[in-house]
Parts: sequence; C-alpha cells; structure tokens
Amino acid sequence: MASMAPISLLTFALILAISTADFDLLQDICVADLASGIKVNGFACKTNISATDFFFNGLASPGLTNTTSGAVVTGANVQKIQGLNTLGVSLARIDYAPGGLNPPHTHPRATEIVFVLEGKLDVGFITTANVLISKSIKKGEIFVFPKGLVHFQKNNGKDAAAVIAAFNSQLPGTQSIAATLFAATPSVPDNVLTKAFQVGTKEVEKIKSRFAPKK
Ligand SMILES: *[C@@H]1O[C@H](CO)[C@@H](O)[C@H](O)[C@H]1NC(C)=O
Ligand SMILES: *[C@@H]1O[C@H](CO)[C@@H](O)[C@H](O)[C@H]1NC(C)=O
Repeated sequence: MASMAPISLLTFALILAISTADFDLLQDICVADLASGIKVNGFACKTNISATDFFFNGLASPGLTNTTSGAVVTGANVQKIQGLNTLGVSLARIDYAPGGLNPPHTHPRATEIVFVLEGKLDVGFITTANVLISKSIKKGEIFVFPKGLVHFQKNNGKDAAAVIAAFNSQLPGTQSIAATLFAATPSVPDNVLTKAFQVGTKEVEKIKSRFAPKK
C-alpha cells in the first residue's frame, strides 16, 4: 500500500499539529509530589490527595504592581496547584499599573491566550520573520501569543489593567529577554553582548547594572 504513505504522513502531521503542548496523560490524575526526590518529566505522583490539590484562590484579587516594570504576574501552575501535574493546562493573572509593562518574554512550552478583565492594553508578539503583530485590546477581549514567540503587554491607559492568561502547559516557563541576557548567573560575557547588540562594553555594563540586585 505504497500509495497510502503520503496520506498517513499527512494524518500524522495533523495529529502532531493538533496535539497539546504538554504530553498527554496516562492515568486520571497524578497530583505532583513537589517534595519527591524522584526526577521525572513533570513531577512524581503522590498518593495522599484531596480536593485542595485541585484548588487555588490566588488569582481572586489583584497582585501588587509596585514592581520595577509596573506589572506583576501571579502564576496558577503546577507549582501552586499540584493537581495540574500531567494535565497540560495552567492559568496566570497579570496586573498592570498605569504605564506598566510585562516586558518582552517567551514561554518555551506553551501558547498563551489572554482575556482582559479590566482596562486596556497594547499587546504584541514578534514572528520568527521579525514581523510585529500588535493590537490594542480592552476589557472582555482576547488575544493569543503563539508558543515560543517573544511577546509583551503594555498598559498605556490611565487606569489599572488586568488579564487572565491560559496556557497549554502545566508549567509554561518564562524567559524574560532582557533579564535572560543581562542578569544571568554566571553573567553572559560582555564580548557576546557587545557583538550581539553592536554596542560598547560601557553600554552593556550599564544595562547589567540596572538588573543587579538592589542593595
Ligand atoms: C494524608 O493527608 C492527611 C491530610 O493532610 C493527613 O492527615 C494524613 O496523615 C496523610 N496520610 C499520609 C499517609 O500521609
Ligand atoms: C509593594 O507594596 C507592598 C504593600 O504596600 C509592600 O509591602 C512592598 O514592600 C512593596 N514592594 C516594593 C517592591 O516596593
């Protein structure tokens, strides 16, 4: 049945394309045992479970936005809700002061979809062809940030803003571009950053100093 091969390949590609970001589960539940010393892809399951393993009230009220960037992300992932282990989903709440920015970052393991709870935001992501896809969104509206692409949200309004974000991963992971490059431990060598950004050591050191822990 050689003629079937292209169809099978196409079917396989479609199945891959529609599958979730995290692997599918092999049992009803596997509540994360965060204290377990056993290292697996995800977390080992614990046996003693209860409804509280599937509960979290940490997104009920706004997070404090008195941060350097004026935005704060409160995660509701497997680290907060152990019952999410192996289920391939999680949420976050992001609060923004007027002028607040959730700086350019990526989630290596998940697509993100945000629903605006309050206020207005200017949001965008950048494709691998370096095209900026951006839009202003307001209360009740939704925007999608495709898996792995660099994206941001900025509150250019006069009032506070907030979103609920959903992810197709129990732990999407976040790499904030500026902090990743300028606040890594050990430090990314200056000569890597000067060449990458086409600037001098002074400029690189200046940015690094802004990310240094406040004394
Ligand atoms: C299971 O959890 C309950 C409630 O936290 C606790 O009282 C009990 O001792 C636990 N049992 C085991 C075997 O760990
Ligand atoms: C933010 O405000 C809270 C409560 O007002 C305070 O406890 C906290 O230290 C502040 N954080 C920063 C980074 O200023």
